[in-house]
Amino acid sequence: MTLLITGGAGFIGSHVVRLFVQRYPDYKIVNLDALTYAGNLENLRDIEQAPNYHFVRADIRDAVALKQVFETHRPDGVIHLAAESHVDRSISDPNAFIQTNVMGTANLLNAARAVWNHDVNGKRFYHVSTDEVYGSLGDSGLFMETTPYDPQSPYSASKAASDHLVRAFGNTYHLPFVITNCSNNYGPNQFPEKLIPLFIHNIRNGKPLPVYGDGKYTRDWLFVVDHARAIDLVFHQGKNGETYNIGGFNEWQNIELIRLLCTQMDEKLGRGAGTSAQLISYVRDRPGHDRRYAIDAGKIHRELGWSPSVTFEEGLSQTLDWYLANEEWLSHVTSGAYQDYYEKQYAG
Ligand code: NAD
Ligand code: TYD
Repeated sequence: MTLLITGGAGFIGSHVVRLFVQRYPDYKIVNLDALTYAGNLENLRDIEQAPNYHFVRADIRDAVALKQVFETHRPDGVIHLAAESHVDRSISDPNAFIQTNVMGTANLLNAARAVWNHDVNGKRFYHVSTDEVYGSLGDSGLFMETTPYDPQSPYSASKAASDHLVRAFGNTYHLPFVITNCSNNYGPNQFPEKLIPLFIHNIRNGKPLPVYGDGKYTRDWLFVVDHARAIDLVFHQGKNGETYNIGGFNEWQNIELIRLLCTQMDEKLGRGAGTSAQLISYVRDRPGHDRRYAIDAGKIHRELGWSPSVTFEEGLSQTLDWYLANEEWLSHVTSGAYQDYYEKQYAG
């Protein structure tokens, strides 16, 4: 089995690559990543020498480069995570999201189709998507696999478009595919522009914690390692043409989550109770901010036996420990120094 994982140097992708490299020594794992600001090979330092691991620097917007990668490695499976992933960036630069998330996915589908030709037996295209394609919930209800798409941000619209393309290629060209739509992830190696790592970073440095709007927006949080476990299960046991929602059964209003984060940080840093919470600062809301996301993950639980392995308190505590022990990682991603790491590691 040769498996091409796109976006493997990013947050979730690096956890997926590590899991597959360690768990499946007989597979050849090819990590394809453009190493944008969000891609960091330091995330994979512990497994980069493994004999079943290969890295290819390529951009999914480049159809010619993709064709070459597919012809060279002839993957049996693709797990596609490469994307522009941050909602706030999609508001300031929507076209970057359309190019990578929509055109990039189309390029990947075309490349898979070309190399697999009509022999799709044993092949699988796994598209990793988000619950944000379903839009925003009111106070009640949960996103089901059957919930109609209603994306509200340029990010979620671009992910919705890519989901539609994957299904269309399945329907039109019989490309075997699976899609998962997952809720908000947290854990080690997340770029410090997303809520949890940004706030850890700011608390550490005594900087304000910018809470958008009234802070009563709700997200369903899942530990990234549990997402990677779900991807492993769906890749191996999911049914072709199916969609599975993945979530943490774990809804938090932002402000409640931030208070828990502040409490845990005060304990870990040995600061007096209530110190970090003083940094909370309400700021202008995100335009078009989705009020609530919540996933019904019953299908993957019933059909594949998946459920989260850690409680939120445990997962958050492990995450804070990781960030506090890896300040070097944080200073490298914030300074861009990991680019130097790439040049040294892959020189010549
Ligand atoms: P991330 O931003 O941390 O990583 C994205 C990776 O993709 C980086 O390594 C980057 O270098 C690479 N990449 C970006 N553009 C590329 C291009 N044009 N060509 C090749 N590589 C490129 O993202 P993440 O949070 O790890 O998310 C991974 C996937 O999971 C995305 O598809 C995202 O939509 C989806 N997802 C994320 C979450 C979440 O909470 N983070 C939740 C559900 C689904
Ligand atoms: P984020 O981590 O950007 O994920 P997403 O927008 O994909 O859900 O944001 C999570 C929630 O936290 C969201 O409701 C926006 C809010 N938020 C803030 O209040 N302040 C911040 O500085 C950030 C980055 C997010």
